[in-house]
Amino acid sequence: RADEAFLRALPKTELHLHLEGSLEPELMFELAARNGIQLPYQDVDQIRQAYNFTNLQSFLDIYYQCADVLRTEQDFYDLTWAYLQRCHEEGVVHIEPFFDPQTHTDRGIAMQTVLDGISRALADGHEQLGISSGLILCFLRHLSEEAAFATLEQAIPYLHVFIGVGLDSSELGNPPEKFAKVFAAAAELGLHRVAHAGEEGPIAYIEGALDVLNVERIDHGVRCTDSEAMMTRLAAEGIPLTVCPLSNTRLKVYQHMSEHPILELLQRGLCVTVNADDPAFFGGYLLANYQALADHLGMTRGQAAQLAANSIQASFITVEQKTLLL
Ligand code: HPA
Ligand code: ZN
Repeated sequence: RADEAFLRALPKTELHLHLEGSLEPELMFELAARNGIQLPYQDVDQIRQAYNFTNLQSFLDIYYQCADVLRTEQDFYDLTWAYLQRCHEEGVVHIEPFFDPQTHTDRGIAMQTVLDGISRALADGHEQLGISSGLILCFLRHLSEEAAFATLEQAIPYLHVFIGVGLDSSELGNPPEKFAKVFAAAAELGLHRVAHAGEEGPIAYIEGALDVLNVERIDHGVRCTDSEAMMTRLAAEGIPLTVCPLSNTRLKVYQHMSEHPILELLQRGLCVTVNADDPAFFGGYLLANYQALADHLGMTRGQAAQLAANSIQASFITVEQKTLLL
């Protein structure tokens, strides 16, 4: 069974991490004070008590509310820098984090403010901590495709600071097909494409993400277990899944970690990877996600090493960079 020292020492990437989901209650209070905002919670403990989720939407409601403390360039820097320090402690060598610009631009925060803060921290992370990164801009799928287009247009001056687009927020009722045109436009701009699919949504959403959005990875994707044919396809085509074990149990996709199918998917030859999703809300960063698999599924050192190697293979770095990390 893999132990913590072994898991920490493995070179790992993180490919499914929402920066806004790494906002710890302590920093939330600090930013609220700095910006003169009154939070609807008394203290850090009260916030943590509110993190008692029943499904994806019950989480998203609180997640968007908490993001309101992020106002200045320095706030976005501090958020990103705190995450980078965790990565450094945990043996994470490369990251492809998500951010949700609409959560901020819809509150009157400029795209430039958000991107300047995040990209300055990522540059410092590379320089000071040796962590490489590629930022991914996510569209909120509960909003319209027109709104996604407007967001992509606002981001065009900053094409040099992000590498791809993603799709997140409320999955059920918002199928991938809704964003076909904006994903095609992103591809035209030379951007990578990923999408959340098959977290709570059906096989048809995984299919739509692959065939209509032309994504290169599926975020979550665990509901592929509903279909033999889909599992076979994902394995045959080598489509990576960015799986988030602690997220899945906290949002009740599975009632207990012992039910999680990640090691079965690995055994079937799918390129599954381990990720934290929203670590400040789900009770653990990347290492804790690996550790949970060791604790509850008996993950071996060999399986852990394969998952970490998959995370390098599934990233958008060059073949030469992959060879250096593997
Ligand atoms: N699913 C969908 N949207 C999200 C998530 C997630 O796990 N985390 C942050 N936004
Ligand atoms: Zn996610």
